[in-house]
Amino acid sequence: MEVSKIEFGLFHNQTIWQYTLTNDNRMKLKVMNYGATLTNIEAPDKQGNTTRVVIGSDHFHDYLQEDAYFGATVGRVAGRITAGRFSIDGTNYQLPLNDGKNTNHGGPDSFEHLIWDSHPFSKADQVGVRFDLFSPNGTNGFPGNLNISVFYSLNQKNEWHLHYEATTDKPTLLNPTNHVYFNLAGDPDRTVDSHLLKLASHRFGEIKKDGTPTGRLIDVADTPFDFTKSAALKQGFDSDYPQNKLVNGYDHPFFLDKSGEGPDAVLEEPLSGRQVSMTTTNNAVVVYSGNALSSQIVMDGKPMKAHLGMTLEAQMMPDAIHHEGFGNIILRPGVKYEADTVYRFDLI
Ligand code: BGC
Repeated sequence: MEVSKIEFGLFHNQTIWQYTLTNDNRMKLKVMNYGATLTNIEAPDKQGNTTRVVIGSDHFHDYLQEDAYFGATVGRVAGRITAGRFSIDGTNYQLPLNDGKNTNHGGPDSFEHLIWDSHPFSKADQVGVRFDLFSPNGTNGFPGNLNISVFYSLNQKNEWHLHYEATTDKPTLLNPTNHVYFNLAGDPDRTVDSHLLKLASHRFGEIKKDGTPTGRLIDVADTPFDFTKSAALKQGFDSDYPQNKLVNGYDHPFFLDKSGEGPDAVLEEPLSGRQVSMTTTNNAVVVYSGNALSSQIVMDGKPMKAHLGMTLEAQMMPDAIHHEGFGNIILRPGVKYEADTVYRFDLI
């Protein structure tokens, strides 16, 4: 196993570094300090061909022209906050609105557009990079000086591990995620239509036209949201079910059952034989099927199109601050925020 480093680009006169984590099974994970972003995962298919299995680019400038959060660390709060407004302990806060009348993914120029300090590390059973960011009190309207670290690592079991730690000096909101888009076919011309998804989730969060949750959790039974058994994502792309029609696929939180053993999500692509199993300490996974991707975005020379990749965003339920039962995303002084998500790569 090793971790190596190259100069990847320049942003505001600062060097952007890309780190490559490699294990002994020919799996590679690439990350950069701009946005603490995953830029690539290369994993073998069942024939032994190793190709890119996430949307990203080998060219830094591509990241300055996209607004799809490819592989980025998203925060302070992933997903939409209705009206960009919330209150903690009786104090009201108004965030800048960057998604119609709401605030999405922490507001404009959030974690994904900032340069993080980076520290590669190498241990007996894993290699990785720790990214640190200081987010001052008032950043995008959020209270509290926040210190946040994201640890990316890769081990010999083909597990990509994400570990988050944070502290604040005032009560604030925190709900970060990683916005990786998988395309396990490893073929940039093929959409995720052929992908099968299994989720340990019997309820999903209904959304409104503007993408904000209504607060209602819907039983997945007899809907295209039933992934309790492995099912094709295409079932929702072709469906007349109103929640699918609203977004041309999926852009929804699934409330995780957390009932016992096994991963929270398993995504597989039968032709390549690749499979990713995700396990998280969070209570939800947002499945976004790349509905808004279009040819206006070009990554690595490839124009994007709808459904070319799909995310499995492990996080607490979006807009949790406004909905009973969605979980606690308030971080208080003296408490250390910690969260973990693991994506394990296998062949089926
Ligand atoms: C959101 C989508 C949005 C996409 C890219 C997803 O997490 O839920 O609505 O279009 O990110 O910004």
